Amino acid sequence: MTSIHRHIYVSAAREEMSPAQLDSILAKARENNEPAGVTGLLLFHDSSFFQVLEGPKDAVTRIFSRIERDHRHARIIVLQAKDVASRAFPNWSMGYVNAHALRPEQKANLVDLGQLIGREEPATLSSSPVVSVQINAFLGSFREFAAA
Ligand SMILES: Cc1cc2nc3c(=O)[nH]c(=O)nc-3n(C[C@H](O)[C@H](O)[C@H](O)COP(=O)(O)O)c2cc1C
Repeated sequence: MTSIHRHIYVSAAREEMSPAQLDSILAKARENNEPAGVTGLLLFHDSSFFQVLEGPKDAVTRIFSRIERDHRHARIIVLQAKDVASRAFPNWSMGYVNAHALRPEQKANLVDLGQLIGREEPATLSSSPVVSVQINAFLGSFREFAAA
């Protein structure tokens, strides 16, 4: 079995994102990710992106290195980059979640995560056990949603 690599980051949009701009990012993501076996989630809230990319390590690394150079966002902070036993979003080439549609517990998890990110040094975030627990809680709150 090929192992699954999961890469999660947050970033700041450089300018206001219109629904059309978000659609074009998503269309491109789906076009590229599907043939590469990459799945994931993109969330946009309050001018910040939160993205999960999962798939074969070489594909995830290649796609993330393109995303990192994209001028539509900045201040990219990697929260997790590790091999995992299974995908959290197996059915989404890139699922989009509007933050307004989050359930209260999902929103609470996201707010907690945002506070943690604000408190920790960016360099230590991806190795922080507290961040890892918080991310798992957040991803777990999508489980039945992502299986749909
Ligand atoms: C927040 C954000 C998320 C993105 N997510 C993806 C993605 O999951 N997959 C992808 O291929 N491109 C994604 N992109 C677009 C890439 O940065 C880049 O424009 C694109 O991969 C170029 O593809 P192309 O060479 O086929 O034109 C994203 C861009 C932004 C700003």
